Amino acid sequence: MPEITVVAGARPNFMKVAPILRALRHTSIRPRLVHTGQHYDVQMSDVFFRQLGIPAPDVHLDVGSGTHGAQTARVLESFESYLTSTAEPQRGVVVVGDVNSTMACTLAAVKLGVSVAHVEAGLRSFDRGMPEEINRLVTDAVAQVLFISEPAGVDNLRHEGVSEDRIHYVGNVMIDTLVHELPCAEALDMPGTLGLCRGGYAVVTLHRPSNVDDPSRLSALVELLLRAAKKIPVVFPLHPRTRERLCAAGLTEKLEAGVKLLNPLGYRENLGLIQSAKLVLTDSGGIQEETAFLGVPCLTLRSNTERPATVMYGTNTLVGEDLDRAYMAVNDVVSGAYRRGTAIPGWDGCAAERIVSILEAIWGDGR
Ligand code: UD1
Repeated sequence: MPEITVVAGARPNFMKVAPILRALRHTSIRPRLVHTGQHYDVQMSDVFFRQLGIPAPDVHLDVGSGTHGAQTARVLESFESYLTSTAEPQRGVVVVGDVNSTMACTLAAVKLGVSVAHVEAGLRSFDRGMPEEINRLVTDAVAQVLFISEPAGVDNLRHEGVSEDRIHYVGNVMIDTLVHELPCAEALDMPGTLGLCRGGYAVVTLHRPSNVDDPSRLSALVELLLRAAKKIPVVFPLHPRTRERLCAAGLTEKLEAGVKLLNPLGYRENLGLIQSAKLVLTDSGGIQEETAFLGVPCLTLRSNTERPATVMYGTNTLVGEDLDRAYMAVNDVVSGAYRRGTAIPGWDGCAAERIVSILEAIWGDGR
């Protein structure tokens, strides 16, 4: 049976590999799962494996946290050793998303002559100050098979001169997981559990360096959230990086006076909370997609997005650097003046099946 390796490293990867591994069960390809260990806390990793039914990794690289250079180097070196020591040569490697592990595993594989398929290829924010943008550019430049989730991704790759035979528009695997997990997420009754009214609260998530690493930006965001909390109850599950930065800036107590702070949530808890929210304020890529699908107004605290379909078709608005604009947008949503979205092509719960049928054609026994 031909073997391939599927890589997962950080929280936003886990919901993307789950449907791909599930769809591979019905094929002639045996996947080996490698967890790089970029995210390692129970709430950032194990809970996703448990809830999404992801099998235990065949190999754990345990790279942990570090500077970009150090973390990338550790993944690169460990993944290269892994690929050179498997009993069976790997026919290919599947990487997802845009985290440091995605880029590092891609580089290690292609330099060993192992072909790479990138799921969520072609996304571009055109902001090279974002670490993820560098990871996307490098990964797409050298991966052989590019699976695209966002309509603009096809044009981006064409503009970069990528040949048509490498480009496959397959839709969005994040939405596969959302569709699969929604009934379980609803059954948790997250608003009830947290003492909130269905449709009557805002959810905040922030973790990007551009928002949380600069104390003056972070302090301005805290002011925005406290103003918003006067209009509508606000809940904020804290990424470990954000908790650390708030604490270092001495802002935790101030924020806690108006906003309900939570630990990072599991996949289902997060989905259940977002699904019943009046609005979401975020800098996450995945949450822009999930809210677009769910029809929940999303105010993105960034000045660009690599997911323009969420703005064009969905419910996403970029509120950028201007926090007064963000506050006005909160008011618009609370007062009911907010547009509804429409469906995005290929965001239908079947993207993993489309991916796997292409993988079978190129890496399966019948190739
Ligand atoms: C990474 C991804 C980002 C993704 C985000 C989702 C890159 C460049 N960035 O950012 O694209 O949106 O994951 O979470 O790959 N930490 C813990 N426990 C953990 C993991 C991290 O406490 O399980 C803390 C550590 O202090 C660490 C910090 O969070 O230094 C940042 O983790 P890191 O993986 O470097 O980047 P993220 O900000 O999580």
